[in-house]
Amino acid sequence: MSPRVFILNGVNLGSLGHRRPEVYGILTLNDIERLLRDEFLKVEFEFRQTDHEGEMVGFTWEAAASMGIVINPGAWTHYSYALHDALEAVNIPKVEVHLSNVHTREEWRRRSVVSPAVDAVVAGMGAFGYQAAVAYILSRATAQ
Ligand code: DQA
Repeated sequence: MSPRVFILNGVNLGSLGHRRPEVYGILTLNDIERLLRDEFLKVEFEFRQTDHEGEMVGFTWEAAASMGIVINPGAWTHYSYALHDALEAVNIPKVEVHLSNVHTREEWRRRSVVSPAVDAVVAGMGAFGYQAAVAYILSRATAQ
């Protein structure tokens, strides 16, 4: 197994730091990437963002031989069955992360169609959610 962990960020997450900072925080995706690289020195990160659903499905398949996936699908969380099916087919540890606590927001954000295809869900911990998700994936690798 490769020591790679895929950090996949979906639609609209490229504008993190500028988009609704009161909800999503002031850190950009570059800041989050730096946090992870500084904390987990031995991990090879594949840090990606796309606004194209098919590309995200491709990233998910590409991660199949890696140590795990941390994915924040953005709004695809709530309606992408294609992403659900891709995640379901990839048999490695997978964590769904949301910067905001989606359960305290609009009704439609409370439902995730991808959650049944992942091992764990983190919501509302901001950038720390990504760190927690990577720590979980590493713990799964050492538990084997
Ligand atoms: C989000 C929550 C989603 O509902 C929203 O569409 C996003 C970001 C989060 O990180 O809190 O784009 O996934």
